[in-house]
Amino acid sequence: MKVLVTGGLGYIGSHTVVELLNDNYEVVVIDNLYNSNIGVVDKIKTITGKEFGFYQEDVCNLEALEKIFSENKIDAVIHFAGYKAVGESVKKPIMYYENNIVSTLHLCQKMIEHGCMNLIFSSSATVYGDPERLPITEDCRVGGTTNPYGTSKLMIEQMLKDIVVANPDFHVIALRYFNPIGAHTSGLIGEVPNGIPNNLMPYIVRVASGELEILSIFGDDYDTPDGTGVRDYIHVVDLAKGHLKALEKITNFNGMHFYNLGTGVGYSVLDLVKAFERVNGVKVPYKIVERRPGDIASCYSDPSLAYKDLDWKAEYGLDEMMRDSYNFILKYNDK
Ligand code: NAD
Ligand code: UFG
Repeated sequence: MKVLVTGGLGYIGSHTVVELLNDNYEVVVIDNLYNSNIGVVDKIKTITGKEFGFYQEDVCNLEALEKIFSENKIDAVIHFAGYKAVGESVKKPIMYYENNIVSTLHLCQKMIEHGCMNLIFSSSATVYGDPERLPITEDCRVGGTTNPYGTSKLMIEQMLKDIVVANPDFHVIALRYFNPIGAHTSGLIGEVPNGIPNNLMPYIVRVASGELEILSIFGDDYDTPDGTGVRDYIHVVDLAKGHLKALEKITNFNGMHFYNLGTGVGYSVLDLVKAFERVNGVKVPYKIVERRPGDIASCYSDPSLAYKDLDWKAEYGLDEMMRDSYNFILKYNDK
């Protein structure tokens, strides 16, 4: 089976390409290197000992897609390519809507033209907005997104539903990720820091490695056990494996399906800081500051539908996530 992976050199994409190659899938990657670098190609080959096809192209470019689908008999697509920085999306909404939406539309157009009818889409827990109940199940209300990034994911889910109605043979699985962290145990691939991180885990590792001075914890007065925000952190390798499970099942399904990929366990910011210090034997100095606008108190999944339908569940715990996140940054800084 030949799988096209868009954004396959990025954080989640690269880990998924590793799992696909390890499982003997044929893989073709398209990535324009907007938020990744060409060195990841060799890292993936080193980890797996396998070859794969690579096109340095933009998924919005119809001619590039035509070339890829003409040169390869693609059976399924996993669509990671997109912009993902929440704060930046507020400042550059046109850029975010254009890249995230046009890439998906053009991809679907070319898939259907070439008879490639299986799509796995990277969605996000952000589509639930401020969740109506916890843990979040797939039938919880979606909407109430607070930034263009989140709204683009919601709009794409709606677009895909309409495309499936018009093309009943087109199978789509939208995977709603909770908070991916960690890295491959080799330490060769992981989330490459780009400027000052917005997300918690990349910030913690850079404080621990001495690149940043102190972690600011955004509020300790939420209605949570210790007052800090609670999230469902999931190891990126577990997340990657979820895509393989979805691939195995996608042709059995008709229409569009949605799955939460999370662990089902919520941890607070302080839980993470303490676990990181304990597992890695380093201090993470922190201070409590104001709440961050747009943040919610708690967000964690009920991942049981993915277990029931896809036979997938997360295997790694918090300690492995802490260990692998730090291992990656130490190796990355050391190179
Ligand atoms: P990433 O930025 O590391 O990877 C995205 C990759 O896509 C990058 O390599 C980038 O160069 C490439 N890309 C972007 N636009 C492109 C285009 N038009 N054409 C070709 N390549 C393009 O992000 P990630 O963390 O790996 O996220 C992957 C997907 O998962 C994204 O769609 C993201 O919105 C979604 N997601 C991520 C998270 C998270 O916390 N990381 C959470 C929920 C959903
Ligand atoms: N936090 C801090 N200090 C920081 C960074 C974060 O205290 O320096 C706190 C936040 O307030 C929140 C928690 O750590 O309580 C997690 O914040 P992140 O920014 O790491 O993650 P979010 O849950 O806010 O958002 C992430 C992605 C979104 C995605 C969402 C759900 O950024 O794109 O997970 O998948 F939609």
